[in-house]
Amino acid sequence: MAQELDLLITGAEIVTAADRFRADIGIQDGKIVALGTALGPARKTVDASGLLALPGGVDAHCHLDQPQGFGLRMADDFVSGSRSAACGGTTTIIPFAAQLKGQSLRAAVEDYHQRAGGKSCIDYAFHMIVVDPTPEVLEQELPALIREGYTSFKVYMTYDDLKLNDRQILNVLDVARQGGALVMVHAENSDCISWLTDRLVADGKTTPQYHAVSRPQAVEREATHRAITFSELVDVPILIVHVSGSEAIEQIRWARGRGQRIYAETCPQYLYLTAEDLGHGDYEGAKCVCSPPPRDEANQEAVWRGLAHNVFSVFSSDHAPFSYEDPHGKKLRGKEQKFQYIPNGIPGLETRLPLLFSGGVNGGRISIHQFVALTSTQPAKLYGLYPRKGSLMVGSDADISLWDPDRKVVISNTMLHHDVDYTPYEGRTVTGWPVMTFSRGELVSREFEFLGTAGKGEFLPCDKPML
Ligand code: URP
Ligand code: ZN
Ligand code: ZN
Repeated sequence: MAQELDLLITGAEIVTAADRFRADIGIQDGKIVALGTALGPARKTVDASGLLALPGGVDAHCHLDQPQGFGLRMADDFVSGSRSAACGGTTTIIPFAAQLKGQSLRAAVEDYHQRAGGKSCIDYAFHMIVVDPTPEVLEQELPALIREGYTSFKVYMTYDDLKLNDRQILNVLDVARQGGALVMVHAENSDCISWLTDRLVADGKTTPQYHAVSRPQAVEREATHRAITFSELVDVPILIVHVSGSEAIEQIRWARGRGQRIYAETCPQYLYLTAEDLGHGDYEGAKCVCSPPPRDEANQEAVWRGLAHNVFSVFSSDHAPFSYEDPHGKKLRGKEQKFQYIPNGIPGLETRLPLLFSGGVNGGRISIHQFVALTSTQPAKLYGLYPRKGSLMVGSDADISLWDPDRKVVISNTMLHHDVDYTPYEGRTVTGWPVMTFSRGELVSREFEFLGTAGKGEFLPCDKPML
């Protein structure tokens, strides 16, 4: 008799980035060991008839327990963040080990391991954020860390405490080229933003709606073009993160047309929010303050088209969890802030996949294969986790989400599992929900209930990106 499987999932239709077929899934020791019919016997069987089996989501851009200055604190750590991800069908998260000015990059990575260790219920890897590219960092630490499995890092062109100047970015890109790593670029022009901000503040325009006015598409377009130029000069691919609208998309298309390898990411906020959500003189709009800001409906359509036409390789949450009624969050010290002091970023780990599935797949804008590619397969490839993550193949980890494509759900913060006190998507109805999710064969969520175990998630050293 064949060896008994740990788990057998029967009756589901399997959907990957390339294929759709009916097969049972045999799982042993956390891995997929068989796809077929008449598998078994198994210690446990899950009947998934009527459901779709998709690779668990890979959320390649989220912020958890990231050290903040100015008395700020993120609402989610690796326990609550991973729990929320799991309940939204995500089985791998890649948050950021952020260097502080004056800190060694190695120390930042070690500190982040302390923050993550024993907490995550799903597997995780780290990107790094390079803030202080000293000769020691460029010549010693970064090359060594790349070799050890930290093969992607983010650089910022804005934010006073994070930004690099052009020459520093060129230096970091050069290290990435030599080590075969991937640089993620936050592309907004810092000086333009601060000049516009000063003018708005001088005019007494300080409510959240002016956040969008201080960061128009031109500042994103210019910085995107500049980053593309750096990529050309150094001859290394880059990935532009959180692209918000048509003007940055035009730059990316232009560069691709010239043969450059420019990758791009977008996020739910650029499909579902607009600058109108930042309010009209009230403070409630602080809940939707993120950078780049949400644009307008025409730009939402441009982003949808970009998803459909493969401008984007990755669809991430950019979950940046700051509670609203929190003296360490959006209402810093319990007070309403001028827009330039509101912490940037919004929550979205748990709603990322249902929002894209609903508007994209059920809305007829992208195929279900594109959905899997954008949310799982391509991030796994670009960040060196494929084929362990990102597909349903014999030998892959048994990270599986079972979707009911017709389930209607009204999103409300009370049903979400993060520790943020709001969701920007309150009251929206989505169609399609991941009703069961398995992380290496362990059931971590079922029907909006968290069933995982903090600490079961493993750290994943990353291979070189598949570019
Ligand atoms: O507003 C945003 N996106 N905040 C999170 C940090 C970042 O730049 O990704
Ligand atoms: Zn960013
Ligand atoms: Zn981010």
